[in-house]
Amino acid sequence: MSLPQTTARAARGPRRAVAALGLALALTAPLAGCADEPAPGSGAGSGSEAGAGRSTSPAPSTRPDPEPEADAAEPPFDRAAHSLDDPASIWVVSNKTRPLAPLDFAPADLSTPQGVENEFAQPLREPAARAVETLIAAAGAAGHEVRVISAYRDYATQVALYDRYVARDGAAAADTYSARPGYSEHQTGLAVDLDDFGACYLDACFGETPAGAWLAEHAAEHGFVVRYPAGKQEVTGFTPEPWHFRYVGPELAEEMRRTGVTTLEEFFGLPAAPGYAD
Ligand code: DAL
Ligand code: ZN
Repeated sequence: MSLPQTTARAARGPRRAVAALGLALALTAPLAGCADEPAPGSGAGSGSEAGAGRSTSPAPSTRPDPEPEADAAEPPFDRAAHSLDDPASIWVVSNKTRPLAPLDFAPADLSTPQGVENEFAQPLREPAARAVETLIAAAGAAGHEVRVISAYRDYATQVALYDRYVARDGAAAADTYSARPGYSEHQTGLAVDLDDFGACYLDACFGETPAGAWLAEHAAEHGFVVRYPAGKQEVTGFTPEPWHFRYVGPELAEEMRRTGVTTLEEFFGLPAAPGYAD
């Protein structure tokens, strides 16, 4: 498999080095005393002649049925619905302290997204592939042209990519933006790097582009989260990657959005993973 190219911009300095990160994330109740309901002592049903000819059976109650308890009807979000450890789970949490097991894990249901620009023709796991198709179509309908840059990368590809970054920037710098082989979400087939054909290709500025901002706002509807948000490097271990989207399914993505928790580590109460053990 050919490697995603190291972009020229990635070699241009620290900011551009960051750019290479992704290569290689109420039924209103009828008002009481409403017009249908006779006022007490008004005649109807009171025994006065005013009621002659009327049925003496009790008037049907106009009181509403008890309102359903909305909160009680909504089951609480089940944080144990999927494994966080199984690399084949859509909720697997991979970070610097949680390597994939096995390290050379490869998913079994890879599928190429259809009808989208895909720079390196890399596949994704089947549910993620279908979801990125709908995400990119929705972005297009909203006026944002979006393409796939990098998607599934197998163990060997990540070896080559990581080694190249280490050779170029040194291990300490490479570790801030490129996962070691066996630790990359791209190896799960659930991560995809997106771009808008613009000037912020794999660059921190992508988050400020109209397309990047739209994607961040709407990704959850399609089951994706921005995996490496700004300000969370000490939690996720990686510098911000507004282009790297991780498929977790719409239920979890929407729950994270609803609760305002932006990292998988914090949502699931896992330890922060700022660095590797060794
Ligand atoms: N750029 C992300 C952290 C990766 O290499 O998987
Ligand atoms: Zn990525």
